[in-house]
Amino acid sequence: MTSLNKEQERGQWGSKIGFILAAAGSAVGLGNLWKFPYMAGKNGGGAFVLVYIIILFLVGFTLMLAEITLGRHTQLSAIGAYRKIREKWAWVGGLGVIAGFLILSFYSVVGGWVLSYLFKALTGALHESNPEVLGSMFGQLISSTTTPIIFHAIFMALNIIIVFGGISGGIEKASKIMMPALFIMIILLAVRSVTLPGAAEGLKFLFVPKFSAISTSVVLDALGQVFFSLSLGMGCMITYGSYIDKDTNLIQSATAIPLIDTGVALLAGIATLPAVFAFGFEPAAGPGLMFVTLPAVFSQMPLGGLFAVIFFLLVLFAALTSSISLLEVCVAYVVDEWKWNRGKATTIMALIIFLVGIPASLSLGPWANIHILPGRGFFDTYDFIASNVLLPLGGLLLCIFVGWIWGTENAIKEATSDGKVPFSLASAWVFLIKYVGPLAIGIVFVRSFMALFS
Ligand code: PHE
Repeated sequence: MTSLNKEQERGQWGSKIGFILAAAGSAVGLGNLWKFPYMAGKNGGGAFVLVYIIILFLVGFTLMLAEITLGRHTQLSAIGAYRKIREKWAWVGGLGVIAGFLILSFYSVVGGWVLSYLFKALTGALHESNPEVLGSMFGQLISSTTTPIIFHAIFMALNIIIVFGGISGGIEKASKIMMPALFIMIILLAVRSVTLPGAAEGLKFLFVPKFSAISTSVVLDALGQVFFSLSLGMGCMITYGSYIDKDTNLIQSATAIPLIDTGVALLAGIATLPAVFAFGFEPAAGPGLMFVTLPAVFSQMPLGGLFAVIFFLLVLFAALTSSISLLEVCVAYVVDEWKWNRGKATTIMALIIFLVGIPASLSLGPWANIHILPGRGFFDTYDFIASNVLLPLGGLLLCIFVGWIWGTENAIKEATSDGKVPFSLASAWVFLIKYVGPLAIGIVFVRSFMALFS
């Protein structure tokens, strides 16, 4: 096969903005809209946001550039990319596949909740201003046995349909329309939330850090959240980077994606937490935060019912543009390594992920008493192992790989398409990837394991 054919077969992003939106589509998802606000709520608000932003600057941008660059250089997905440069490192890509698998299994359960809420919004069932009713509506949904599993199945089926058809055309086109729409919608919600009476308390909670609230587990959660939200540490951005053409300067993309992602996360926090205080909810309420507070905000808006429908449709879309990137990492693995055809790979992988997700769903209801890790059922255990262990570990290994094995000079050459980059910027990145990244991730790791066993 000539290299041209090969390139045509793999496909490429149609334009630079197309790539940025698709990669931002992978990054922006339930991690921003659902997880970030409740993680902030659980971890003391401002303390969490501060630590999150510090980690974003120390490792988020750095690793984003490293992953995209590695992908474009090798033109391969995770395992192949590592293997092409150092045979012995292929297993690091494999670690990413496991992380993606585990994340998708509980991500899809939450995707199912979104679907269910979209139906509720459509039928007017969400048109409810009593916070207590909204709270128990959510509790009832996630704790029942079959309904959430059915929606989990539908969500997985949507993933199969999209990934089955290949990615570039559909994802890229849809992202171009839906991402900006989501952005506008979330701004609207944020504005409504901060203008509710009593909202100031929530803004203070979110943006004024209480330093005493910073603890090992806050730092570990923030680290995991940076990786989760930016889709880093599991080879997803390596894969997306492999579809970028050779002329694109990667530094701009690697800057834009984390900025967009963090912007949306903060806006989601602003849309959610002030409303939490205004309606007298509990900020540490956990996974239900978005599903309970935002409908309460809608009930305070003119045309709230309509906005609720649009909003949950956009959340569903944001979730799908992320979940397909998770599924794609798993599918690319079996297609490349086990030589399965795409159809079989997609269907079987999705089926197994669906099955693994079932205990996650049940653990919020009938199996609530079964703990896998101390104090954590299946759902929380999957999330903890994937987000707080596997992704940071993948990130740590990526730093070592790019910083010390592939070499920063090669990486910079690839990132800038052999162009010039200000010396200070390049040396800052080199310093971050070689020293700061491994050290920061390593320290958080060691400390959190000490905490786990003490
Ligand atoms: N970043 C996605 C989100 O925030 C989740 C994700 C993680 C997607 C890892 C791909 C890889 O929802």
